[in-house]
Amino acid sequence: MRGIILAGGTATRLFPLTATTSKQLLPIYDRQMIFYPLNVLVKAGIKNILIIISPEHSGHFLNLLGSIFDKNNIRLEFKVQKTPRGLADAFIVGEDFIGDDNVTMILGDNIFEDDFSEDIKNFKTGGKVFAVKVLDPERLGVVLFDKNMKAIKIVEKPKKWVSDYAIPGLYIYDNQVVKAAKQAKPSSRGEIEITDLNNWYLKKNKLKIGIIKGKWFDAGTVDSLLEAGQYVKEKKLYENFDPTINNAIAKFNEELKNLAKKVL
Ligand code: DAU
Repeated sequence: MRGIILAGGTATRLFPLTATTSKQLLPIYDRQMIFYPLNVLVKAGIKNILIIISPEHSGHFLNLLGSIFDKNNIRLEFKVQKTPRGLADAFIVGEDFIGDDNVTMILGDNIFEDDFSEDIKNFKTGGKVFAVKVLDPERLGVVLFDKNMKAIKIVEKPKKWVSDYAIPGLYIYDNQVVKAAKQAKPSSRGEIEITDLNNWYLKKNKLKIGIIKGKWFDAGTVDSLLEAGQYVKEKKLYENFDPTINNAIAKFNEELKNLAKKVL
């Protein structure tokens, strides 16, 4: 299993914060947002992770993450997505990295309380995504279930109500996803949509949908960014991190302090 964190995009909804750095490097309480999706993958035992970034702030990601996992058997790779062509583009940008393996893709601005380690470790074939009840389904990809909770269709940002169940940004796929992404046509908003890939698997009867536990945030607006930070603080979610990540952050802090001493 390989991991991809999609951490590009322009993040205009967070201007002016994202004029100086990338959204995924903004803080969620005491650490940068990117550590949350990274933690989901590392906790599940994924050792090879590709971080897809935009050209503007690529140096910031390298400064933070470039060397801190060197000695921990976690291999981070970076690739620039020149234009934000859509979520499905992650599998085209990441084609060489994925090779013949399965892949878990997580959005760089999604904060989950739930732990998906078992889903990722036990994954065999097809696709697995998750659903969560939300108050604003028109902003998201949503899934319509029948009365037996069997998925019927998935719709991206429905203008007319379809369902209250959104599909958050965590996607586990077999290797076929690369083929599916290459076949996807841009939607009316000009993006190749992850929802089309999910429907591709659904039509083949190969998509499983789990229901997530706990809170989920898409920290893409000033309000949700703040809300996510407050929730993390209140529930002490930073205590649930994989030790590899907490140790790496502690070491990084130590290096920064030593550097600060030298400068002073
Ligand atoms: O957050 C979950 C939702 O994410 C899903 O329910 C939707 O089905 C899915 O389309 C997506 O919707 P958003 O409109 O919220 O996606 P957004 O454009 O905000 O992009 C999500 C993240 O991916 C964000 O951190 C920026 C990054 N991104 C986005 C695009 C389109 C890239 O790195 N490259 C891209 O080409």
